[in-house]
Amino acid sequence: MEKTAYIEINNLCKTYIKGKDPALDGLTLSINKGEIFGLLGPNGAGKTTTISILCNLIKPTKGYCKINGFNVEKEFNLIKPLIGVVSQEIAIYKSLTAYENLMYFGSMYGLSKKELKERIGYFLEKMNLTKFKNEKIDHFSGGMKRRVNLIAGVLHDPELVFLDEPTVGIDVQSRRVIIDYLKELNNEGVTLLYSSHMMDEAENLCSGIAVIDYGKLVVQGTPKCLIEQNDSKCKTLEDVFLQLTGRNVRDYF
Ligand SMILES: Nc1ncnc2c1ncn2[C@@H]1O[C@H](COP(=O)(O)OP(=O)(O)O)[C@@H](O)[C@H]1O
Ligand SMILES: [Mg+2]
Repeated sequence: MEKTAYIEINNLCKTYIKGKDPALDGLTLSINKGEIFGLLGPNGAGKTTTISILCNLIKPTKGYCKINGFNVEKEFNLIKPLIGVVSQEIAIYKSLTAYENLMYFGSMYGLSKKELKERIGYFLEKMNLTKFKNEKIDHFSGGMKRRVNLIAGVLHDPELVFLDEPTVGIDVQSRRVIIDYLKELNNEGVTLLYSSHMMDEAENLCSGIAVIDYGKLVVQGTPKCLIEQNDSKCKTLEDVFLQLTGRNVRDYF
């Protein structure tokens, strides 16, 4: 029997009301349970749009997605408890402390106060934030904010976590804490869908990757296979990425 995909993205198209070109243009992709899957692409490739559709934050213009066999648009109530979302934009409140933020986000998932306190304590320790737990987020560095943002997305023990560029623009130490934690989470059986344009990081972290560009799939495979399959000049995933997506700088606003 053919193995069914855990995440199925089928001919996904999205044109924003104010967008002149489609952000997604027939993206088809399947991802298995237990992977750390990297959604890679240059600026504006459609990574955030894809993740936003998978989390039912925006609707596709055409096409559909399924998670664990459930249709995202039609059966999201069955999907919601399974997933955690760590957004690209920091989603926590600046005027609250780290602890208050996590109590707030955790309570939305119906965890008991006792359970929540235990879990928050565990994660703050894991992310090296215990001694700052009563400080306002406003005073935190970018890396510390990212770590709190990450905890807020995994507090309820989801089996699938979406992370949109979780390590962008942060210090090396914060990046390492986050990456090590993602590996640990995956070892516990959690599936991760992670977007990035950091090729060295993805090459080390991901069991599978897809390169997307202009809202379309360019290539999918394991980092190792993609390096082997491509031009012999390609020694790293970054070489493959540049060969597939070109060297033009993608600025947009
Ligand atoms: N709310 C929006 N309105 C109009 N265009 C948008 C909006 N969000 C994204 N886009 C456009 O859609 C394309 C894909 O964006 P996005 O999914 O954010 O890419 P990525 O996350 O890969 O950088 C870009 O061209 C971007 O300008
Ligand atoms: Mg993005």
